[in-house]
Amino acid sequence: MSAETVVQGIDLARHYEVKRGMFAGHATVKALAGASFELKAGKTLAVVGESGCGKSTLARLVTLIEKPTSGRLLIDGADVTAAEGETLRKLRQEVQIVFQDPYGSLNPRKKVGTIIEEPVVINTKESAPARRERAEAMMARVGLRPEHYARYPHMFSGGQRQRIAVARALMLRPRMLVADEPVSALDVSIQAQVLNLLMDLQEELDLAYLFISHDLSVVRLIADEVMVMYLGRPVEQGARDAIFERPAHPYTRALLASTPAVDPKHRGQRIALKGELPSPLDPPPGCAFHRRCPHATKICAEERPALAPHDGRQIACHHAATIG
Ligand SMILES: Nc1ncnc2c1ncn2[C@@H]1O[C@H](COP(=O)(O)OP(=O)(O)O)[C@@H](O)[C@H]1O
Ligand code: SF4
Ligand SMILES: [Mg+2]
Repeated sequence: MSAETVVQGIDLARHYEVKRGMFAGHATVKALAGASFELKAGKTLAVVGESGCGKSTLARLVTLIEKPTSGRLLIDGADVTAAEGETLRKLRQEVQIVFQDPYGSLNPRKKVGTIIEEPVVINTKESAPARRERAEAMMARVGLRPEHYARYPHMFSGGQRQRIAVARALMLRPRMLVADEPVSALDVSIQAQVLNLLMDLQEELDLAYLFISHDLSVVRLIADEVMVMYLGRPVEQGARDAIFERPAHPYTRALLASTPAVDPKHRGQRIALKGELPSPLDPPPGCAFHRRCPHATKICAEERPALAPHDGRQIACHHAATIG
């Protein structure tokens, strides 16, 4: 039996209008150009890709911080794209976020207890004593001590700050947590502790995770499903083991090959990620990866490949069947 779907994205896209330069007028950046996925209770979908591929944009859409330019977003089966007012406020509580920067994401002038209770104050009528009791229980749950309640964020290390951010995010009892590079700014020795905490909390609370990372060794540890993005579009999507053991898309292979720690098997056939990441303001025609791809042919420069089933996952590549 498959786990319950909490959030579903259908062809989600987000475009931004930007100024090209002093005299060049405006241009459209397709920060996210069409992603479809499901987030399931108790499961983690990891989103990977180089900086600028649209991961944080996706996070802002899923947590209802921004509206999509097109596509649909369902939470518990309800379309949130058109939701407003009280309905939107309720839906926002279901989807919480933890950001990368543990130093910038906590208000330095507020005490830890206040920070953790803030979403409850804003969104519910829960009494102060009840709220405090829950905040203290949550602090214990994430590994903070009772005396930390009255301290300020600057007194904490990066790892502890992420624990505070996680505690705050969970106070409204969301069903889904977006973690946008939650351990990327932490020392490697601290990363594992925070990841373990996230995994324990997921199991205990049956949380759906959208876990964003550019670090494949972290993704391999935490993901059930993986979505590999390139310039605003998913290029390979499927179960973690399929993707790590038999990566199919040339871009996924290049990413894996550049992370030797997770890919001892493929070292022999290492494909370097050659060339520069193209500008999202001026994406190449056809397959956005064609100028960097060792398998590119004429059609790759002309037609954009659609995601299609291949070897137990989806990939977007004209030559999926022949590149082995
Ligand atoms: N508010 C915005 N206005 C204009 N461009 C944006 C905005 N947010 C993101 N972008 C652009 O969209 C692309 C994707 O950004 P982002 O989602 O932050 O990528 P990632 O998190 O994968 O690094 C980038 O080219 C970025 O410059
Ligand atoms: S479509 Fe062509 S350029 Fe794109 S990944 Fe496949 S082989 Fe490479
Ligand atoms: Mg980002």
